[in-house]
Amino acid sequence: MYPDLSAPKAVYIHIPFCTNKCHYCDFNSYVLKGQPVMAYLHALEREMERTVSSLPPEQIRTIFVGGGTPTVLTPEQMEFFLNLVKTYFPYQKDEIEFTMEANPGTTDADKLEVMKAGGVNRISLGVQSFDNTLLHRIGRIHNTDDVYRSLELAKKAGFTNLSIDLMFGLPGQTLEALEHSVNEALRLDLQHYSIYGLKVEEHTLFHTLFQKNELPLPEEEDEVKMFEFIMNTLKRDGYEQYEISNFARPGYASKHNTIYWHNESYYGLGAGAHGYARGVRHVNAKAVQAYIDATNEQLPYIENNLISVEEAMEDFMMVGLRMLKGITYEHFREQFGLELDRVFGDSLQRMVRKGLLEKVEAGYRLSSQGIFLGNEVFGEFIGTLTVNE
Ligand SMILES: C[S@@+](CC[C@H](N)C(=O)[O-])C[C@H]1O[C@@H](n2cnc3c(N)ncnc32)[C@H](O)[C@@H]1O
Ligand code: SF4
Repeated sequence: MYPDLSAPKAVYIHIPFCTNKCHYCDFNSYVLKGQPVMAYLHALEREMERTVSSLPPEQIRTIFVGGGTPTVLTPEQMEFFLNLVKTYFPYQKDEIEFTMEANPGTTDADKLEVMKAGGVNRISLGVQSFDNTLLHRIGRIHNTDDVYRSLELAKKAGFTNLSIDLMFGLPGQTLEALEHSVNEALRLDLQHYSIYGLKVEEHTLFHTLFQKNELPLPEEEDEVKMFEFIMNTLKRDGYEQYEISNFARPGYASKHNTIYWHNESYYGLGAGAHGYARGVRHVNAKAVQAYIDATNEQLPYIENNLISVEEAMEDFMMVGLRMLKGITYEHFREQFGLELDRVFGDSLQRMVRKGLLEKVEAGYRLSSQGIFLGNEVFGEFIGTLTVNE
C-alpha cells in the first residue's frame, strides 16, 4: 500500500560529462574538457555511502548508468566507478540487468572489457541516425563507421544485450532518410531499439534556431508517417513495441525503465539525478561543482518532498499509460488499495470516448490513435486530483 516502504530494487546513476554538447540536448551534461572527473567520482562515493546508510538496499535488480556519456570515463576511472557501484549496491551477477549508456565516439575495446568485467551486461548506444551528414548537423561526435565498430567491439567483449537509440523528425530529415536509418538499424539485428521523436527543448542550439525560424523541421504529416513506418517495420521484424518509443525482442524489454513505468521506487544518484523511495522524491544539485560541494556535508538534495497519494496516483497514470499493455486494475489496487475506475473514471471515460484509450479486460491502454497523441492522454490525468501550483 502507498507508500511502499521497502528498499528500491533499481538504481540510476548519472555521469554528467560529454565530449561535446549535441544541438538538441538539454540533459544535465557538460563538456568534459577541464571537468573535475575524479572529484565527481569521489562525490558519488560519498553520496552512495550516505544513501545506503539511510536506506540499505535489499535486493538490487537493475542498475542504469546514464548521462551525459558514461563512456567518457577512462578505463581506470571506469574501473574505479564500477567498483564503487558493486561495493555500495551489491548485486547477483546472474540476476541483475546492468545497463550503461555509451556513445559510439567514446567506446573502445579496453573500456568495453572493463565494463564487462565490472558487471555491465547491457549497452545502450546513442546512434541517432545512419546518415553522416545529418549526424554532423545535429552535433554528434561520431559517424556511422564508429557505430558499426562499437557494436562489433561490444559483441567481441561478450555483450549479448545491445540497444541503440535513434531519433526521427530531425531537421532536414526526409521520410526516405529515416527509412534508410531504420533499415540499417534493423540489419544489425539487435535485441532492443529506442526511437524518439525530436523534441525541441529550451536551452539548446535547436531552440535558438527554431525561434529564429531557421530550423527546417519536417512537416507534421511527415513526422506521423515516420512514426508509422517505425512501428510497422519493427513489428514486421518481430520486435514488440512495449512502450511508445521502445521496441524489444521477446524477453529484452528494459527491466529498469519498466520499474519507472510501473511507478515503483528507485535510488537516484549523481548531479541532477532524482530518486523516489518510500513515497519521497528527491532532486540532486544539478551543476557539477555544486553537487560535489553538497556531498561534503550531507546528501546533495535540493528538493526532498513527500509525494501525496493523489500525486502518486496521477504519476501512476502518466507513466503507466506509456506502456502499450497499459495500466491494470490489479496493479492500481496493489499500489493504492483503491479501484481505478472510482478514482479516474471520468477521465478514463472521456479518453475512451475520444478514441485515445481503450478498455481491455485487465484495465486500459492507449488505442492505436492514442499512441500518436500520448501527451494529450497523459495531460488528462495531471491535476485531476491535485491542484497544480
Ligand atoms: C542521455 S542520451 C544517450 C547516451 C549518450 N549521451 C549519447 O547521446 O550517445 C539519451 C537519448 O535521448 C535521446 N534524446 C536526447 N535529447 C532528445 C531530444 N531533444 N528529443 C528527442 N530525443 C532526445 C537521444 O536518442 C539520446 O540517445
Ligand atoms: S545527446 Fe548524449 S552525447 Fe549528446 S549532449 Fe546529450 S547526453 Fe551528451
